[in-house]
Amino acid sequence: MCGIVGYVGSATPSGRPLEVVIEGLRRLEYRGYDSAGVALVAPGEPLAVAKKAGKLANLVEELDARPLPAATAAIGHTRWATHGGPTDTNAHPHVSGKVAVIHNGIVENFAELRDELAAAGAVFVSQTDTEVVAHLLARAYDELGDLTTAMQQVAGRLDGTFTLLAVHADRPGLVVGARHDSPLVVGLGQGENFLGSDVAAFIAHTRDAMELGQDQVVSITADEVAVTDFAGRPAQAKRFVVDWDARAAEKGGFRSFMDKEIHDEPQAVADTLLGRTDRAGRLTLDEVRIDESVLRAVDKIVVVACGTAAYAGHVAKYAIEHWCRIPVEVELAHEFRYRDPVVDERTLVVAISQSGETMDTLMAVRHAREQGSRVLAIVNTHGSTIPRESDAVLYTHAGPEVAVASTKAFLAQITAAYLLGLYLAELRGNMFHDEVAAILDELRAVPGKIQQVIDRSGRVQEVARWMADTPTVLFLGRHVGYPVAMEGALKLKELAYIHAEGFPAGELKHGPIALIEPGQPVFVVVPSPRGRDALHSKVVSNIQEIRARGARTLVIAEDGDEAVLPYADEVFWVPQTPTLLAPLVTVVPLQIFACELATAKGLDVDQPRNLAKSVTVE
Ligand code: F6R
Repeated sequence: MCGIVGYVGSATPSGRPLEVVIEGLRRLEYRGYDSAGVALVAPGEPLAVAKKAGKLANLVEELDARPLPAATAAIGHTRWATHGGPTDTNAHPHVSGKVAVIHNGIVENFAELRDELAAAGAVFVSQTDTEVVAHLLARAYDELGDLTTAMQQVAGRLDGTFTLLAVHADRPGLVVGARHDSPLVVGLGQGENFLGSDVAAFIAHTRDAMELGQDQVVSITADEVAVTDFAGRPAQAKRFVVDWDARAAEKGGFRSFMDKEIHDEPQAVADTLLGRTDRAGRLTLDEVRIDESVLRAVDKIVVVACGTAAYAGHVAKYAIEHWCRIPVEVELAHEFRYRDPVVDERTLVVAISQSGETMDTLMAVRHAREQGSRVLAIVNTHGSTIPRESDAVLYTHAGPEVAVASTKAFLAQITAAYLLGLYLAELRGNMFHDEVAAILDELRAVPGKIQQVIDRSGRVQEVARWMADTPTVLFLGRHVGYPVAMEGALKLKELAYIHAEGFPAGELKHGPIALIEPGQPVFVVVPSPRGRDALHSKVVSNIQEIRARGARTLVIAEDGDEAVLPYADEVFWVPQTPTLLAPLVTVVPLQIFACELATAKGLDVDQPRNLAKSVTVE
């Protein structure tokens, strides 16, 4: 949830450590924006700390008003509050003596540690769990005289989840970090090194990176990176090269990251399809290193995910069941783990996550593996935890998604799930190679269709602006249109703070139709008339039913589908697309609608209230 940056540069103090850390925090602000803070160290100087509640801009204003001295190393934090409200005092870094600490995660045994420390004379000023770590580290340093061993000792005493970074005023060329169930990556520079919650923190400076393993401590100086386990034994971290550059994480002239990321969607789908076939056009999915005999024997697939990623899982269910004839369940990851799910070694668990860090999904992955299931992760962020703990990973290539609400990653997740379904279908003999190849061709045409939807989005934006005062909007869909309806409703709730519900259109007459009163706006996602006849005609009947009761019908329909015209107040046309692939185009007008409406209301679409991009607490 929180964003963490660390930096060590040359031995001569300068403004660079602060600049690097503030720039890193700017790129990590999507992780949380309840407060921000920095701590700087320099030879012979006392610790310098600044922190401020609210967005990073508040901290920057504070630093302009009260500049900090030049430094040789720095740490910085952007917070999504868990323990203690979003105040200046609860903002990180937390300080004890000459030590400053920042933390992402939750220290579950903090109350017990706080009592122990208070009994020994420690004075607490904040309501956070993190402050205990500052006191523990300061005491361990005083005893051991070394920040790295102090961190190893303290990390071993903490329960819960954490990434920690610390500096000490007497060690001005050193930043020490520790990770347990929360992300931390190292950026390897020339005469300088970096730490970050993800690579976005340092991508402007280096693409050479190192992924820390579970329960590791890392110490960076300007020239060295040393990794150990919590017991102090040397440990290995995996080197990798980041495959996107800093420009991909910039707004590139768009009003918001979200706007930009919607415009990135054709590329996100195209890139996710790239390099997944051999010369003969056969799907290879090299990353799926689960034995083919195991995949042939799979008798059930369970998708675990949260929020938007779970809706991608719902789309995957329709496609995979149709192509592979394997039953697919989709379960919210936080429910999966706590209800004794029936999974075993013949179950393939598919974990879908943009960040690869969602704690609920990670816990579901661990639970599934404990039951003997193989886990395949569909993840966008390299160096994240879920792929590392899974048996296989199919990376989506959506590029960095900065806006808190997911858009392009959703399309990339659906695309990767299709690839998995087609791969399994051919492997298990449910489909012939030419059938798979024909669908792959259709998929390759989808980025162009998404572009058409974006190019034609003027009308949906106009309607969104008119509807800025609407108190509630309903969304209906059937078959793959149902998860699209739920995603449309979620986007509107989180971006525009408008009450919205997505229903399966067939459920309407079993209750929700009572909500329809004159003027009620209802989006209806209409399936292709070229797909299953009954499916299309049933949805057209649903539009008639709500229209007859006064609903204002906003219809998403395929080019040429004239059957909807008599019952639609507005039609947003999308290019003709095969039924199972249609979510990749039908969801786009709904994303644009929510983004535009929220913008018209003057809201921050990139950082909606109360949310964080990466939910690393359960
Ligand atoms: C909604 C949204 C969230 C995420 C969910 C899972 O716009 O972004 O619902 O989809 O928190 O996050 P990841 O995919 O990172 O596991």
